[in-house]
Amino acid sequence: MFQRSVIQGCGAYLPARIVTNQDLAQRIDTSDEWIRERTGIVQRHIAAEGELTSDLALAAAQEALKDARVSADEIDLIVCATSTPDQTFPATATRVQALLGITKGAAFDVQAVCSGFVYALAVADNFLRCGQARNALVIGAETFSRILDWSDRGTCVLFGDGAGAVVLTASPEDGSASQRGILSTHLYSDGRYNDALYVDGGPSSTQTAGFLRMHGREVFRHAVVKMAEAIDAALDKTGLQPSDVDWLVPHQANIRIIEAMAKRLDLPRERVVVTVDRHANTSAASIPLALAEAKADGRLKQGDVVLLEAMGGGFTWGSAILRW
Ligand code: ACO
Repeated sequence: MFQRSVIQGCGAYLPARIVTNQDLAQRIDTSDEWIRERTGIVQRHIAAEGELTSDLALAAAQEALKDARVSADEIDLIVCATSTPDQTFPATATRVQALLGITKGAAFDVQAVCSGFVYALAVADNFLRCGQARNALVIGAETFSRILDWSDRGTCVLFGDGAGAVVLTASPEDGSASQRGILSTHLYSDGRYNDALYVDGGPSSTQTAGFLRMHGREVFRHAVVKMAEAIDAALDKTGLQPSDVDWLVPHQANIRIIEAMAKRLDLPRERVVVTVDRHANTSAASIPLALAEAKADGRLKQGDVVLLEAMGGGFTWGSAILRW
């Protein structure tokens, strides 16, 4: 029997320390006004010294398990989307697996930068649909603060740390139009744009972790076009109209990109889940953090059509549509 992947629970974790735009303006040549106007960002959370990506991931995963009422020993797949792993290897997902006391199934990381959560969700969805796993933890966790050049005002103001997680459970297809679960996923990449957004280090090249480098304008231009393409593919595949979408839960990079996507769907602002003002860009963590917030405050209701979209370094981009 065909299976459908259903999000049973969500979890989130944000480090305690908040850094405001004003705080940054005391350290570098920037202003609250510049950051707000260009990006919509007001503040970001920054991990404490010694607080690792796996610590953030674990906290979000534990909350997701609790919310889903699924115990750790029922999990047989962990996919962690991150570009800031604790170590080059082993995968951060295996660290989370050990900390949760799980000794069965598979755990691995997916690296697609800001599109990482959509990629990880698609991977887990495919495992579940073909019967290779029953209960997956899909995590997006990042400590981008560790790969930022804090003297580069063009990039360091844009990012924050955090983690979000969902529990995805296989459920037999019942053939009804109202059945909950993931309806489609679409993933894309185009490596010709590696140089638009990258980290200038790595184990094979410099033997250092390196720092994030970005051509912001080029990223902006491609983000709008490419995410629109991923949204169109999702609507085409599912036969849904833009007016069927109840919630847009986009990757949170920049309020202007988010607004452009909402406009394209003709979705009013109150139907778009926005966290970029408080979280900044948390890369692979941004979508599960936004999902967790919208679930916790009751915005997402059973049966709602939820559209996820993201774009990031690579370039990578993608979308997912689900019935909540
Ligand atoms: N504070 C003050 N001034 C700044 C800052 C800052 N933090 N950063 C750059 N500036 C200055 C620049 O030096 C430049 O000054 P100059 O004209 O004297 O040389 C001026 O502001 C304009 O710089 P631009 O980079 O052209 O500014 P732009 O309007 O393009 O905004 C931004 C930059 C916000 C990064 C924008 O390009 C953007 O949002 N791009 C998308 C990038 C993104 O979201 N990346 C995230 C990862 S990918 C993803 O998640 C989709």
